[in-house]
Amino acid sequence: MKKIFTVCLLAISLLGFAQEKSPLACATKMFSLPGKEYMHKLVPAKGYSIYGVELRGTQDMTLKTDRAFTGNRYYYLYGKAPQKEGEYTYTVILKDSLGKECPVPVQLTVSSHLQSATPPMSWISWNWFAEDISHEKIIDVAKGMQQKGLIDAGYNHIVIDDCWAENDSVKARLTYNKTKFPQGITGLVADLKKINHNAYLGIYSDAGSLTCTDYQPGSYGYEKEHLRLFDSWGVDMLKYDFCNSEGPAYESYRAMGDAISELNKERAKDGRPTFLLNICEWGSNKPWLWGAEAGGCCWRATPDGREAWIGSKGLPGVLGCVDHVRDLWMYAGVNRYNDLDMLCVGLHGIGGPSNYIPGHDQNGGTVPALTEEQSRSQMNLWCMFASPLSLSCDFREHPQPESNKDIKTLPEPLITNDDIAILTNKELIAINQDALGQQAEYLSELSTDTERFAAKGYGVFVKDLSGGRKAVAVVNRSNKVLKSIDLPLDKMYMRERAYIYHNVWTGENKNTEYILATGDFRPFETKVFILTAKK
Ligand code: GLA
Repeated sequence: MKKIFTVCLLAISLLGFAQEKSPLACATKMFSLPGKEYMHKLVPAKGYSIYGVELRGTQDMTLKTDRAFTGNRYYYLYGKAPQKEGEYTYTVILKDSLGKECPVPVQLTVSSHLQSATPPMSWISWNWFAEDISHEKIIDVAKGMQQKGLIDAGYNHIVIDDCWAENDSVKARLTYNKTKFPQGITGLVADLKKINHNAYLGIYSDAGSLTCTDYQPGSYGYEKEHLRLFDSWGVDMLKYDFCNSEGPAYESYRAMGDAISELNKERAKDGRPTFLLNICEWGSNKPWLWGAEAGGCCWRATPDGREAWIGSKGLPGVLGCVDHVRDLWMYAGVNRYNDLDMLCVGLHGIGGPSNYIPGHDQNGGTVPALTEEQSRSQMNLWCMFASPLSLSCDFREHPQPESNKDIKTLPEPLITNDDIAILTNKELIAINQDALGQQAEYLSELSTDTERFAAKGYGVFVKDLSGGRKAVAVVNRSNKVLKSIDLPLDKMYMRERAYIYHNVWTGENKNTEYILATGDFRPFETKVFILTAKK
């Protein structure tokens, strides 16, 4: 057993691509706040099966087998994380097809200073403003967000995306653009704090030579210097892109992740908030396999999202993003989230980069906006997926077309009450921010949308919530009414006889036994229910 152990360990210690060869096809670096409810779904790679788990110092967890023959068929660890902060390891024992044991260690970090115990919530400047950002614009957006209740709803990281710096290519000279930010980034943070002391500033850089617009230097090789600069300005989050890369993805991100981890140790001592690393690598190098190991709390798992319903594999819309991520649920957990990209709610077909769709003109309103139903579906699904929630529309009192130069006048009002109701739906945000940190599972057996990137069929998703509750979502992908579906509860891991199900949009509560009857769906509608077992 010792020899096999060494071989298996070697295979999984060469991270990144080697992770794919691991006998475990799920997260192996986990996080928890001290003493909290804990869940780890253990999915074996093809050819392996799970045999047991050796717990060390993590005795308040049990290996559960009740899902071995239903739904996505896996074992999982469930219970409570240790109360004491520290690094823990438990070992999952697998067997290969020849019956050989192959133990895989899982590292569990228990800390009250995690980067983001729940998915980060933010506003990002890119979709609406692209390169045209400034102190005044960012502050006016933040004021609008404050006035509309969005910062208090949790969207408290305000992120300046590409083109905030001087137009330069020399990393050592990285500094803010003085015309755009005359009071410096420190001045921007100070004004942000005046609007809401719980607001934090996020900034953007790139793990290569230049950012994606080729406009400002990236941070590769200058990670510590740039991070110190951001920290000295009062920045609390980094969106870190991967254009013009100069090294392999894992190493490139790890350099920044290590610098952030050092900074966070200092911050913890000083009682300052943790600094967040948002990996923006578009899913090309499968960051779900190494993003946590590289030191990020979330990673884009999709190409740049578009304001479209389906989009395509290359430029995904709402469902395109979902299709990219729907089978990656076993890689999400507390402090490790798959990012489905910015929400397009509120763009109304007038954003900039997010509205470039081949076959449509970029501007002039020829890109179909998301309908209210589709917008609601996007929020529903992003919340079910425990995706970071990144707003991207123009919340200013007097919005302007900005990066969409062909638009002369905007609809009045641009941001509707429906948009605000969608983005501030308390129950949905609570689903997104649920402490268990689980991403909804796609249940292919119960779904009819097996063909990805197509406008037909429906998809069924189940998300484990804390306290044993479940959230179930069904999305009607097509433009036709979908008749009510009866979903068997046991196939969604609900084995009690009776449940109460609560519709998060209508507020309706119903009692049921064995099945969830969804009711009819409007075109493009997603319904979300919370199910609680009846005592
Ligand atoms: C990439 C990212 C976008 C945005 C732009 C900025 O495309 O994926 O989200 O940050 O770069 O240039």
